[in-house]
Order: sequence, then structure tokens, then C-alpha cells
Amino acid sequence: MLSDVVAVLACPHCAGSLTQEDAALRCAAGHSFDIARQGYVSLLSGSGTAASGDTAEMVAARGRFLDAGHFAPLTSAVGAAVARAREGRPGECVLDVGAGTGHYLAAALELCPDAVGLAVDASKAAARRAAHCHTRVGSVLADTWQALPIKDASVSVAMTVFAPRGADELRRVLRSDGTLLVLTPTVRHLQELVAPLELLHVDERKPERLERTMSPAFTRRSQTMLEFVMSLRHSDLDALVGMGPSAWHSSAAVRAERIAAQPEPMSVTGSVLLSEYQPSTPD
Ligand SMILES: C[S@@+](CC[C@H](N)C(=O)[O-])C[C@H]1O[C@@H](n2cnc3c(N)ncnc32)[C@H](O)[C@@H]1O
Ligand SMILES: [Zn+2]
Repeated sequence: MLSDVVAVLACPHCAGSLTQEDAALRCAAGHSFDIARQGYVSLLSGSGTAASGDTAEMVAARGRFLDAGHFAPLTSAVGAAVARAREGRPGECVLDVGAGTGHYLAAALELCPDAVGLAVDASKAAARRAAHCHTRVGSVLADTWQALPIKDASVSVAMTVFAPRGADELRRVLRSDGTLLVLTPTVRHLQELVAPLELLHVDERKPERLERTMSPAFTRRSQTMLEFVMSLRHSDLDALVGMGPSAWHSSAAVRAERIAAQPEPMSVTGSVLLSEYQPSTPD
């Protein structure tokens, strides 16, 4: 619930502490943010351009795919990494930036019975869904490319899973002894589907780009490659295409035609890098 994470939130206008009063969060300067009926709060600062969060259809497709368990090896690996990083830090906050449905955060909290979770996403549909992903999760609508509405050094573990990230803001909100987990696809991720379903390619220079964007704020502590094979039916392929960026580029009819031409079930590779970073410099 939002009340679990209010202590780490900051007003997006003046960076002051927020307190919950009835159905709103307020700061001492009088800025006020209504809590939506669905349980999340928007702390978008209103400055700059609107962030490009996923549509309701994409979030629903992601929910279907993840609930079916096809990415279970990733869910387990992220959960275990969060639990390891939190050892000996009872009651602290785990931040998931670009949290989507909140699937990975909820799984991590199951392994960390005394932690609370903060899900941040720029998509209203995602924020709505993440608000109910776990009883100890609070969900906030915010743009990761802007200043995060989170207090300095208030988070002990942060993660981004297939999501955009701003290293400087993550560094600011993370404790100096905290851990950042980043999960990114390799070029082999979903490789069997790239040509037939016209999925967007993963850039083979992505690992170098990741290192460049994470430094100098973070230093990599470890990196693990996770590879597995999924057996996917046509309905799974539909959810997989629908939940990703390629959903923007093809109509439903074209997508259905391409999927119908594939074998069923189809063997599809999952391939990601799970990287663990520590802040480079003290607060
Ligand atoms: C590929 S999805 C990954 C979601 C989730 N981490 C997962 O793996 O299931 C990327 C997520 O990042 C969110 N997102 C995109 N741009 C964002 C931004 N500027 N600020 C915050 N979230 C953003 C999208 O709305 C979407 O939920
Ligand atoms: Zn304020």
C-alpha cells in the first residue's frame, strides 16, 4: 500500500517530505497529490514532455505473458538477487523503476518478508496494476527521465527490468551501500521471433552502452547471463508481441497473420544479462 512507502517519497515540486491525509499526499509547502481510486498516486512533476509509458493493451499483454510463467527463470533470478542484496537490512525499501505490472517486485518481496516495495512507472495502466501486485507495494506514476520523487539515499535496493533508467537519479536515491540490479536483453533474446514477427532488434552494442550510461555513478560488481528456452503457443506469441515495443509498429491483423504462420508450440530463446552495480562514490 502507498502508506508503506510514503516515508521515502518526496514532493516533485519542492522535494519536501510527504504525508498521507485522507485520499491525498501533501507536503509542508501545500502541494497536494490525489491518490487515485485504483491505489496509485501521480507524482509527475508536469515539466518537460510526457513520458512514453506503455498503453493499457501492452500492460494487459505483459500481465498475461508473465502470469503464464514463461519468464519464471528471470523472476526467480531477480528475486534471489534482491534477497541477497538486502541481507541484514530489515524493513528497507526496494525500488522498481519501470515496474510495469509489478511482477518482479512482488516476487522479490515474497522472498523479503520485512521489506516494502516502491513501483515507479510512467504508464497509468501499469501504475494501476502495480498498486495491487503485492500488499507491501506502493505504486507511483513518475517519469524516470525526470527527477525521481524519492528522497536522497532512501532506498537499499533498486532494480530496472527491461526498462529505461537514469543512472544519476538512481544513484541519488540509493544508499551508498546499496545495490542496483539491471536486467537487459542480449541479442539472442527472442531471436527465433525477430525475423518472422518483425520484432525490433536488440542492438549488439547494448552491453557497452549500458556500461557507458551507468558510469561514473555506478561500478559493476557482477554480471550473470541467463539463457533458457520457452515453449510458446500462438496465444503466448500474441501476448509477447503485444507487450513489447513492436506493438507500436504492426496492426493486430498483420500480427495475427504472422503468428498463424509459425509452428505451435514454438521453441523460443530467452537470453538476458543480470548486472549488479554498487554506487561508485560515497554520498
Ligand atoms: C518493457 S516494460 C518492462 C516492465 C517490467 N519491468 C517488466 O519487465 O515486466 C518497460 C516499462 O517501462 C515503463 N516506462 C517507459 N518509459 C518510462 C519512463 N520514462 N519513466 C518510467 N517508466 C517508463 C513502461 O511504461 C513499461 O511499463
Ligand atoms: Zn512540495
